Amino acid sequence: MADAVDREVLFTADPDSRALALSEVLAAAPGASIRHWLATDVGWVTLVHGWSDLVASFYERPPIFCRHMYPAQVRVPLMQDSADLEALADASASLAQRLIPERPFSVQTRLLGRGWPFGPYLVNTRLAEMCVGLGATLDVRNPVDVLSVVLTPDEGFLGVSCAADNLSDWAGGARRFRREPDQISRAEFKLLEAMEIFHLDAPHEGLVLDLGAAPGGWTRVMRSGGASVVAVDPADLAPVLARDPQVRHVRSLAQVYLPDARQRFDVILNDMRMDARDSARVMSLAADRLGPAGWALVTLKLPKGGVTQVLSAALTLLRRRYTLIGVRQLFHNRSEVTAALRPKPPGAG
Ligand SMILES: C[S@@+](CC[C@H](N)C(=O)[O-])C[C@H]1O[C@@H](n2cnc3c(N)ncnc32)[C@H](O)[C@@H]1O
Repeated sequence: MADAVDREVLFTADPDSRALALSEVLAAAPGASIRHWLATDVGWVTLVHGWSDLVASFYERPPIFCRHMYPAQVRVPLMQDSADLEALADASASLAQRLIPERPFSVQTRLLGRGWPFGPYLVNTRLAEMCVGLGATLDVRNPVDVLSVVLTPDEGFLGVSCAADNLSDWAGGARRFRREPDQISRAEFKLLEAMEIFHLDAPHEGLVLDLGAAPGGWTRVMRSGGASVVAVDPADLAPVLARDPQVRHVRSLAQVYLPDARQRFDVILNDMRMDARDSARVMSLAADRLGPAGWALVTLKLPKGGVTQVLSAALTLLRRRYTLIGVRQLFHNRSEVTAALRPKPPGAG
């Protein structure tokens, strides 16, 4: 397990948002300083108060842009040759005492740069074998603790922490999904990742409103769950959805459709490409259409400059009509973040 004296921390963010992620870390861990960017998306910070304080602070105020983090308890010099593997295995042996048998673990490895004589799978397997030999319990599907490994061409960073404290269950927060044969758009991954992160289930029946639906990836995901969909978009839907009697395509702008809409929806989705504040205003128009046990997701596009101001204005608008479940820049978000919402309970201000 990680503890309060762990002060070296590696974190990951989208390269375009890394400055914002760093400010989140610095705000949560006063006195921390950036040592080095190990890659465009991996920062190395030194804390003053230690890992546990940073984790507690992020539980209280979850970050939006910082995707993944772990404490680097051991550093190993590397040469990018096959001897590295044994050096890493020896380093993992010194960490194995933190892996208690009652808390199953897995190993997650990221290799930065090119020219590695081995891949992440081999590192995972060798280090897991070493730790299991020393009494740890391996469970790659459902680990409580994670031995995280990031390798740069000249140094390896290893650390053990509780998986739930790392902000993501995936190495570097890189949540990848397998492409499905009937997939309509890459945007589907964004919806799947958001539902996983915010613990939202696709309804097995009922009605979904998909604003900015074309070409229809999100609509397809909801249809495969079992719900019917009202898909609002001036653009065409994929032919398979256009033929589907459980999909009603409203060829209109969301702002035109919503004021006269009368139905109640179990889920409202909004992946419209527009200014984040305008999108939040559209969500305000949609608020009365969401059933009391429903949930909503909205993609908020980020501007080139003034991200913090635009995002905070959009979130203020959303909070007027919804309870915010969370806001994250997902692995599948590009220049945008995703907000998850629930209806405000009756009488809430
Ligand atoms: C990123 S795409 C949505 C992709 C979709 N989620 C999917 O999985 O296939 C954005 C869509 O928003 C639509 N859009 C933009 N402004 C809109 C508006 N005011 N009302 C309705 N749709 C809008 C665009 O026509 C475009 O099809």
